[in-house]
Amino acid sequence: MALNVEKLRNDFPCLQKKFDGKPLVYLDNAATSLKPNSVIDKEAEYYKEYCANIHRGMHKMSEQASREFELAHEKTAKFIGAKSEKEIIFMRNATEGFNLLMYSLCAGDFFKPGDEILVSRMEHHANLVPWQFLQQMKGTKLNFVELNEDFTLNMDDLKGKLSSKTKLVSLTQASNTVSSIVDVKKACEIVKKNSQAYFAVDAAQSVPHLPVNVRDIGCDFLMFSSHKMLGPTGIGVLYGKEEILEKMQPFMYGGDMIKEVKWNSSSWNELPSKFEAGTPAIAQGIAFGAAIDYLQKVGMQNIRQHEKEITKYALERMKEIPQAKVYGPRDLEKRNGIVLFEAGKLDCHDIALALDEHSNVAVRSGMHCAQPIVESLNPKGLARASFYFYNTKQEIDVFIESLKEIVGTFK
Ligand SMILES: Cc1ncc(COP(=O)(O)O)c(C=O)c1O
Repeated sequence: MALNVEKLRNDFPCLQKKFDGKPLVYLDNAATSLKPNSVIDKEAEYYKEYCANIHRGMHKMSEQASREFELAHEKTAKFIGAKSEKEIIFMRNATEGFNLLMYSLCAGDFFKPGDEILVSRMEHHANLVPWQFLQQMKGTKLNFVELNEDFTLNMDDLKGKLSSKTKLVSLTQASNTVSSIVDVKKACEIVKKNSQAYFAVDAAQSVPHLPVNVRDIGCDFLMFSSHKMLGPTGIGVLYGKEEILEKMQPFMYGGDMIKEVKWNSSSWNELPSKFEAGTPAIAQGIAFGAAIDYLQKVGMQNIRQHEKEITKYALERMKEIPQAKVYGPRDLEKRNGIVLFEAGKLDCHDIALALDEHSNVAVRSGMHCAQPIVESLNPKGLARASFYFYNTKQEIDVFIESLKEIVGTFK
């Protein structure tokens, strides 16, 4: 179904903004998405109507806040096909999800010196730096799955690098730089067939843009952030298989995550509370539920289809600028709505600044929290335009025409 983008755009206050009389062209969605009124209103509703701590009060407002917070877990579980809300841990963001995984498995003595962690060459720092730290802490070894020439994941290399030493394979489902989509279901099958390793998925750039189903993938863990999918900042998700989460050590210790506390020992609460210590981001969690409602109404298939169309259009139009070079797969089935590029000898930050100054086009520039891969393509960094379902071909025209002028002026 074709999306009524113009109608949807009315839901987003930031899309109504103008600077110097010209509209904002927001192409920095991989960094964070804009928020619709329903999400903003839901967060305000908590503060206005039932501003209370959860799971602690017998009073009406606390009961309502607790119910709404639990409901957001339930909606998230359904949205990604988890078995139940017990498998949905609310964290601050995807980054905290990876840290939970690392610290919690560590505390349970899961890793031994010489064990291997396997990630790909296109990971975000969130799925790289924790495993580097683990090497120092536990003497584990970090290994990398290579990419094919078109920036897709090399499945043969993945298979070849698995061994009895591999304890965890953690792969992005959609790259925030080179735009590749990884067939994580196939990767998971390879991992499970050829090793005993856990399989984790970085879904920060996939859950907001594609239909994702954890049971279909077969993964053990999957992380993503609310703020990249219309929801508030300060809330993110770690999905984990219930039977594994049950066995794992908590990540943080204190209130809410306990069942019983004695002077010298404690026992842990049921899932997901076992991993949600202290007062959580209540307002943000509740409003995240409204973001999921919105995405479901629009339809994840429709979102994917629209983004494919505008990405195709953008890639075609980029060809009009001979100095521009785009990095990423050409096949639309194998990529998401991210266009990572350079333009001649222009510095990527100058491109971003000029686009903003010239025509209110917001893009990102630099290393994109994935320095090893970006640096290997251009040591000075790259520019990135990233789309969401509310972007239009007209906005891409503004971006391309503006980029043409910038390249022409500074050549
Ligand atoms: C692929 C990928 N993984 C992980 C993250 C980390 O997300 P957050 O900063 O919300 O923790 C990002 C954020 O840009 C990302 O693009």
